[in-house]
Amino acid sequence: MATSLGFLYVFISIVALVSGLTPAQWRSQSIYQVMTDRFARTDGSTTAGCDLNEYCGGTWQGLINRLDYIQSMGFTAIWISPVVKNPIASTQDGNSYHGYWAQDAYALNPKFGTSADLKALSNELHSRGMYLMVDVVPNHMGSISSQTTVDYSKFNPFNKQSYFHKPCNIDYNNQTSVTQCWLGDNIVSLPDLRTEDSNVANMWNTWIGQLVSNYSIDGLRIDTAQQIDTAFWAGFQSAAKGIHTLGEVFNGDPNYICPYQNYLHGILNYGTYYWITQAFQSTSGSISNLVNGINQMKSTCKDVTVLGSFLENHDNPRFPSYTQDIVLIRTAITFTMLADGIPIIYQGQEQKFSGSNVPSNREALWTAKYNQNADLYLHIQKLNRIRSWAIRKDSTYLTYNAWPIWSDSKTIVMRKGYAGKQIVSVYSNSGSNGGTRTITINSGNSGFTAGEKVTEVLRCEALTADSRGNVGVSIPTGRPGILYPTAGLRGSGICGL
Ligand SMILES: *[C@@H]1O[C@H](CO)[C@@H](O)[C@H](O)[C@H]1NC(C)=O
Ligand SMILES: *[C@@H]1O[C@H](CO)[C@@H](O)[C@H](O)[C@H]1NC(C)=O
Repeated sequence: MATSLGFLYVFISIVALVSGLTPAQWRSQSIYQVMTDRFARTDGSTTAGCDLNEYCGGTWQGLINRLDYIQSMGFTAIWISPVVKNPIASTQDGNSYHGYWAQDAYALNPKFGTSADLKALSNELHSRGMYLMVDVVPNHMGSISSQTTVDYSKFNPFNKQSYFHKPCNIDYNNQTSVTQCWLGDNIVSLPDLRTEDSNVANMWNTWIGQLVSNYSIDGLRIDTAQQIDTAFWAGFQSAAKGIHTLGEVFNGDPNYICPYQNYLHGILNYGTYYWITQAFQSTSGSISNLVNGINQMKSTCKDVTVLGSFLENHDNPRFPSYTQDIVLIRTAITFTMLADGIPIIYQGQEQKFSGSNVPSNREALWTAKYNQNADLYLHIQKLNRIRSWAIRKDSTYLTYNAWPIWSDSKTIVMRKGYAGKQIVSVYSNSGSNGGTRTITINSGNSGFTAGEKVTEVLRCEALTADSRGNVGVSIPTGRPGILYPTAGLRGSGICGL
């Protein structure tokens, strides 16, 4: 035969990973962000808080002992703060408890434990079927000194000034300056590495390859990714054996952040973070900006389904620092967890911590005594349960791009998933004083069919679509709602089905 029909090409995807997860495998995970120093002490004690500028005593062993708390909430992975050795000292900028001031990339932070402890953490996660994401900082090292008095010989492996750019202050309107100038200040300076030089890049690549295999790391969160030249990432990611990366590009503009997905597998979804925060932090937040923002992220980014979806982290004011209305808080958390991408909950969200600026947003978790009956703990557990059920019923749920199917000035309705296996979720910013209103979700967009039985899974309410497939949903006192076809819930245990 002269035609190409005679040839059958079979593509077998060979995953060249010993351990570790690809970007596609991370889609189905749900991440709990741990700041190691603030999560759990080795002895498990819950007495006394601590000075939030100083080391508070959390360790990897403490974390191992409390993994049940995380796993019971439904998380399948943790992201831990940087693990390498930092200079330890009290300064006007606080101490290095957060881990972002690397001094020796080949030594671990002794405050958090030993190499055996970190391996034990990784093993324990894997034996539970969970995964480990580690925060890494290739942009800079940390020195407790002014910019001009850095002792470069203290750094490992970058022990000479020639590995670094000359000090200058970042001008955020100038991208060269963003990648070459220094973060930090003259109390703790953050000498900026010449990551564009092949010797520096090779040293990092050797390091990350070893780190990933020594500790069987499954994914990386990459600090200050926009401060590094984009050409650096291809080599770094391949040295990291192709495991997923979530880069921190601290900017809300899709036109600025999305292009980073051409270099990094994934980034943290700062665009949507800002829109969700403003939409639900008060009854006057803009729903239309949220609608437009979601659509813009989708049309601008290569693949929003591998981004990290979050509402809080250790760098920004916690959501309850804007509003204490539990209904608005639950709504915003629900939106982030059911959005496209990998949901990330920062430790303490489940306990309604409300710290605002650094370091007050880095509370010690043990002050909440690991309460597994807290309102938001139970709420997040429900969200992880419905999300993982939707994934189990149909893995294309993960790659189906969520879209706003209806909105007005107070309410947005989102759909994610193909008909019969879709989650349709309803969010309002009218808050707990908003009264009850009913909206009708049109079948054309929701995918519900005539007479179909639908369950609202937060309140376990049974609904039925009308003869045209439209579903009327009442929103009591501004609460979020999550609809799923009742037939598809059988066997899930959700709402007794
Ligand atoms: C941008 O920053 C670089 C690095 O500091 C500097 O050399 C360059 O002059 C700056 N460009 C402009 C237009 O200011
Ligand atoms: C990985 O482990 C080897 C063998 O113990 C050690 O020599 C190397 O320094 C470690 N590398 C890192 C980055 O932890």
